[in-house]
Amino acid sequence: MDSIRVQGGIALQGKVCIQGSKNASLPVLAAALLVGERSFIRNCPRIADVYAMVSLLKSLGCRVQWHKTGIAVDSSRVRKGEMPREAVTGMRSSLCMLGALIGRCGEAVMEHPGGCVIGARPIDLHLSALEQMGVNFTERDGKLWAAADSLHGAVIRLPFPSVGATENVILAGVMAEGKTVLEGAALEPEVQALCHFLGCCGACIEGVASSRLVIHGGRRLCGTDYAVPADRIVAGTYLLGCIGTGGNIFLERAPAWEMEAVLLAARQMGGHVCAMGEGIYVQAPQRPLPVRLVTAPYPGFPTDLQSVAMAAETRGSGTSYIEETIFENRFRVVEDLEKMGAEIEMLDSCRAAVHGVSTLRGARVTAGELRGGAALVTAGLMAEGESFVYGIPYIYRGYENICRDYRELGARVTSV
Ligand code: UD1
Repeated sequence: MDSIRVQGGIALQGKVCIQGSKNASLPVLAAALLVGERSFIRNCPRIADVYAMVSLLKSLGCRVQWHKTGIAVDSSRVRKGEMPREAVTGMRSSLCMLGALIGRCGEAVMEHPGGCVIGARPIDLHLSALEQMGVNFTERDGKLWAAADSLHGAVIRLPFPSVGATENVILAGVMAEGKTVLEGAALEPEVQALCHFLGCCGACIEGVASSRLVIHGGRRLCGTDYAVPADRIVAGTYLLGCIGTGGNIFLERAPAWEMEAVLLAARQMGGHVCAMGEGIYVQAPQRPLPVRLVTAPYPGFPTDLQSVAMAAETRGSGTSYIEETIFENRFRVVEDLEKMGAEIEMLDSCRAAVHGVSTLRGARVTAGELRGGAALVTAGLMAEGESFVYGIPYIYRGYENICRDYRELGARVTSV
């Protein structure tokens, strides 16, 4: 199984149930490490990044078991603060283990974290925030060593609302002595999910869903049973996929309340979109109307959906303008979209003009990162003829089964 074969040109039709959120599951699994008891985390997606996080927890001494409805994590026996190299270099989200391990063991050793190749992705904000809480960092043997003799609360101001740095401060803050005030915190729903999970475990975090969090550290945490929310990025992928291909679909469990910027963009693209019952109904236009999109931290338009929106607009009825403000390498997908007949003009390194064409044609293309891969599958659905998308391990880092989901919507998509 090394590629996805897409026979395009079919309007999507039907209903698909949205998987649990990747970006919420990962920090919640890391937080389970703090608890020192058994937690049960429901609705985790069966994706490569979650499997990697499970292995990482096991390597740190946790007992972890998959059940039909979720993952049981017993962290009563964690002693070791060193993360194995393979777990860290392949997965950027192992970075939130830094705050969790410092909180639990007072120390952590890790390689430089990996993740999708969508930019430089420095970790200075994480390090400087944790330093203010009493953590000392040194680099030895190519590894990052973190140690805190006394982890304490602090007043921290993030110059940019980094999701990962916010999560690290929360994870360390609930275990620190005293109060941590975090100003400029990220507002992403996944940060809120982490706070809700920790709240269920007995932590006290004020200001959840605002940019000023007050974390009262040092409370005893206990195990809990928690369900992670549905994945707004997967829901947005299929929503924009429908806008690009045509047809009408129902996204069961899609969290509409977390997707306002995406719903607004879909409406501007000519879609008829409404949140109803437990999901979102989408009716696509004949061809997407041109839009201007600028990615921004939540509640702005998510960077994770920028390339999928770009793919949809390659068939737009005019020229769309797309600006990426979060990650510098999110336009890697342009070259492959052009192989399929898209007309995209790079205005500079972070702005593109997408001149809509009436049809794309099938081609052999290669995913270079997770969301870019999903964008190529979307373009394949829109194209006349057959496409093969290679590089699918990237796609399976975030989508449980993109082929099955699109087949449920009537598309002809298989892993080959
Ligand atoms: C998380 C999400 C990712 C999403 C991103 C932005 C997870 C597992 N991943 O990634 O899907 O695209 O939020 O919504 O939740 N930055 C620094 N220094 C730092 C940290 C970040 O300069 O110390 C920069 C990054 O290079 C980037 C921007 O800040 O340009 C956003 O990064 P951040 O919000 O931290 O994203 P992640 O947590 O890595």
